[in-house]
Amino acid sequence: MKRRTLLGTSLALILSATAFAADAPIVIKFSHVVAQDTPKGKAAEHFKKLAEERTKGRVKVELYPNSQLYKDKEELEALQLGAVQMLAPSLAKFGPLGVKEFEVFDLPYIFDNYDELHKVTQGPIGKALLGKLSSKGITGLAYWDNGFKQFSANKPLKAPGDFRGLKMRIQASKVLDAQMRALSALPQQMAFSEVYQALQTGVVDGTENPASNFYTQKMHEVQKFLTLSNHGYLGYAVIVNKKFWDGLPADVRTALDGAMRDATKYANEIAKAENDGDIENVRKSNRTQILTLNPAEKAALRNAMVPVHKQMADRIGMDLITSIYKETGFTPAQ
Ligand code: LMR
Repeated sequence: MKRRTLLGTSLALILSATAFAADAPIVIKFSHVVAQDTPKGKAAEHFKKLAEERTKGRVKVELYPNSQLYKDKEELEALQLGAVQMLAPSLAKFGPLGVKEFEVFDLPYIFDNYDELHKVTQGPIGKALLGKLSSKGITGLAYWDNGFKQFSANKPLKAPGDFRGLKMRIQASKVLDAQMRALSALPQQMAFSEVYQALQTGVVDGTENPASNFYTQKMHEVQKFLTLSNHGYLGYAVIVNKKFWDGLPADVRTALDGAMRDATKYANEIAKAENDGDIENVRKSNRTQILTLNPAEKAALRNAMVPVHKQMADRIGMDLITSIYKETGFTPAQ
């Protein structure tokens, strides 16, 4: 009798645990490395809001900004292991994963503006690139814009010769390594969360980033000059653990797909204004002098860096590079 009661109690417990699991929301841990007040940070918040509203609470999106959970390299490993479900790493960070083709986005001057970029990210080339992630256990959902990168240092960077011998922090991309070497600088690969301190202590002399990252990481406190060079693009692929995504109930996945579509629209609408606003914030801080380039200075920098396209063709694939040239109308000489 006593045994039967015990059995009954355990059965009841198991049943109630199952019922709880069925009621418990599906949690999406979304980790990223930038501040909340950036295009990516804001878009992640927008996605959370839409996802939770549209699934009526069946999905809970937990945001972990500013590398509070994982740094650059760790977050990709965590996604593959299923410790987090969603990330939006910059396109420069997929090389170490074995998907080198994404480094095409890092080629200096390959995009002159967002319109040219969107022909790639919102067209068949972008889609095919996302498809390459599935063999890594990753599903690519969307591209989110940040913006065009500016060079910074404690000395004015206007001509190729100004970079000689400077230690410049880069993301984990061989194209960015080649780009800095083309300027006779010394590239130093480093996680984003470590950049402020490295600049402050002189471990590196300078860096490159869109203004939104520069300002929100307070790099203007530790860099005297910011050159509006717009020499390359930095944006993101929003990615999820494939097994997790494929295992979602179909109606939930459909709702999340819709939320992602709208969050992407939002991200890409705010990115330019956010970066323009942060250039003004840097200016107002009076800590960093903002430098502009005249046409001859722009041409000299461009000429020094564009040979990187050819140098990197073996790594990225000349066909991919050419297909982007065709979309954007890029010509090496300008
Ligand atoms: C960087 O490491 O500089 C950027 O990728 C950070 C980011 O995610 O925008």
